[in-house]
Amino acid sequence: MKIALDGPSGAGKSTLAKNIAKRLSIVYVDTGALYRSIGLYVMRHGVDKDDTKKIIPMLKNVNLTITFIDGEQRVILNGEDVSSLIRTGEIAMYASAVSAIPEVRAFLLETQRKIARENDVIMDGRDIGTVILPDADVKIFLLASAEARAKRRYEELKEKGEECTYEQVLSDITKRDTNDSTRKIAPAIPAPDAIFLDNSDFEPEDTLEAALNIIKSKVGK
Ligand code: DC
Repeated sequence: MKIALDGPSGAGKSTLAKNIAKRLSIVYVDTGALYRSIGLYVMRHGVDKDDTKKIIPMLKNVNLTITFIDGEQRVILNGEDVSSLIRTGEIAMYASAVSAIPEVRAFLLETQRKIARENDVIMDGRDIGTVILPDADVKIFLLASAEARAKRRYEELKEKGEECTYEQVLSDITKRDTNDSTRKIAPAIPAPDAIFLDNSDFEPEDTLEAALNIIKSKVGK
């Protein structure tokens, strides 16, 4: 089974995908982590996130793999497990910038398709239903208002002890929405056959139940 889960930043895709994966005993693949890892690589090399000309030749020195430990995804960048390091607001902005570079997307395409070929998956990202898995059995586009997403992300970051304000988080989310949905290549838009799920006013359990109903209606599971 292949489930594509797309939608804007902070809509709750990873929480939902984790819950669905557990319920259906399938593998959860977080594709944003791949873009974040490239963002981290670029940042560590002191290269500006918008310097496309410098970033493209850097890709030949990047070896990126995904492994699963106790069912949890780990991203290995040139031999180093960077899974925790990539979870910062700064890296998110780098990821958004590098994800607009066609060469970066092409570089990551096969890694993503290979995992889906070898496993039953729920894959979360921005172009899963449109580009990576156009033949997915179920395509869900998860939405929430920018304010609801910023509030959740702000609370998450605060809990982790990251210094930030709600206004900054909202502004970053709005910027990322614009970057991700207006870029020329693989913009974060719903596939024509995607089913919308707006969870602005939902608790995670409600979102899970709604998504399971969508899945059931499509594949009878
Ligand atoms: O889902 P996330 O916040 O970890 O994603 C980080 C950035 O990567 C996001 O701003 C857009 C980009 N991305 C993408 O372009 N395509 C994907 N399939 C996943 C993420």
